Amino acid sequence: MKTAVLVSGGGTNLQAIIDAKARGEMPNTEIALVLSSNKSAYALERAKTNGIPTAVVHRRREEDAPSYGERLLKCLKENSIELIALAGFLTILPPNVVSAYDHRILNIHPSLIPAFSGKGYYGLRVHEEALKRGVKISGATVHFVNEIPDGGEIIAQKAVEVLEGDTPEILQRRIMEQAEWVIFPRAIEQVAEGSTRNQ
Ligand code: GAR
Repeated sequence: MKTAVLVSGGGTNLQAIIDAKARGEMPNTEIALVLSSNKSAYALERAKTNGIPTAVVHRRREEDAPSYGERLLKCLKENSIELIALAGFLTILPPNVVSAYDHRILNIHPSLIPAFSGKGYYGLRVHEEALKRGVKISGATVHFVNEIPDGGEIIAQKAVEVLEGDTPEILQRRIMEQAEWVIFPRAIEQVAEGSTRNQ
């Protein structure tokens, strides 16, 4: 399945997908496009180093959601994209994109949904809140994207221990290494494989 990875930042999850693909673990997934919401995302460098086509679609100030969605859809269609993986994509996807790719958009979230999820829970903030609440276990979740933030059907989850003395940064890194980079490539391949089989 021709897959677009949508990014906004460092792109360590993108790297995990590229590495899993290189190891032969994603035979049904083609990384056909890396689409960034901002032109300075380091993830774009990772894509270029690996010969993956890139695009930048920035949401303009005062642009309404449908117009932004149309521009995203145009770019996705031009690249014949069938599956979308949100790998640290900062912008909320407009409803017209979500409905055009029903059960074809996956997101990685750095907690065990429903804990520390929903509107406003992004990146380090998730781990700050988990530490504040004193949970002993956190983790990561891969889910389908629907119209509710972090509300779509769960595909995979992996728990990670919270340790004494953790800072948000340390916890974030452990969850990435032990959970995100493991379950996200697998879940993408699982969906790609299922869809390929059903075609
Ligand atoms: C990851 O930890 C991802 O789970 C999180 O942003 C980070 C992106 O890092 N996503 C969310 O918080 C979505 N609500 P990366 O650019 O290095 O992959």
